[in-house]
Amino acid sequence: MDNRPIGVYDSGIGGLTVFSKLVKLLPNENYLYFGDTENIPYGTKSREELLTITHKIMNFFKEQNVKAVVMACNTTSAVAYDTLKEDYDFTLYPVIQTACKVIADMDEKKIGTLSTEATANSHAYKKQLQKYNPALEVFEHGCSGKWVEMVENHSQNKKENEPILREHLNVVLEQNVDKIILGCTHYPYLRSLLTDFAGKDIFIDPAEYFVYYIAQDLKNNDKLANKKEYEPKFFVSSNPEKFKNSSEIFYKLEELPILIKR
Ligand code: DGL
Repeated sequence: MDNRPIGVYDSGIGGLTVFSKLVKLLPNENYLYFGDTENIPYGTKSREELLTITHKIMNFFKEQNVKAVVMACNTTSAVAYDTLKEDYDFTLYPVIQTACKVIADMDEKKIGTLSTEATANSHAYKKQLQKYNPALEVFEHGCSGKWVEMVENHSQNKKENEPILREHLNVVLEQNVDKIILGCTHYPYLRSLLTDFAGKDIFIDPAEYFVYYIAQDLKNNDKLANKKEYEPKFFVSSNPEKFKNSSEIFYKLEELPILIKR
């Protein structure tokens, strides 16, 4: 049993897709969520920039004495995880590396991914999926930063966004893939528009497998908490009001203070 907190982070509200599932599955845990609103978007940043950013976030969580950090951010899981995984003595759960263990076993022949440019350029999805299933064909596509912007600006359901969504989605659909991984934590919020152009069953949200893995792993290592000591604590690096407003349809924050941490 371990009642120390679990840290969860992303560049903004995207990681709340993971966070909200985790809270439902493990309600006794103590959570700290960090939204790096000052540095968003991550998807267009260089490897060096992403390493600096991720180290800073990990050091913050280290100061908070966490037992684990959930890297609810595909871009830093893709680009920074391998470099920093040995640097910390708490457990790191990177979304791509964790979810691919399950997705690779799903008996599909060809999988497409939609992600940020940085994630696509790293080929992390292809490498991880083929590590567990070498026969699997993988087609990766990096989307415009506008996809993340739409969600952060709370305009994810606006019809005017359709052309930019369709343009990128079509690139992957033309490859005749069996499934499409929404490989950026912001994208599940775009699902209702995306399903206007593709069957809803084609999309995979890695968070669904990710949170079950985390729960099982904490249990196996006797690290589950037995007592919720406080409500989740939220930190952002800038603009707490915007974070609160855009997050409201995904996670109810109105009762909770949002603290600034730079
Ligand atoms: N939501 C993040 C991811 O999963 C990063 C989005 C961004 O800031 O570009 O990759």
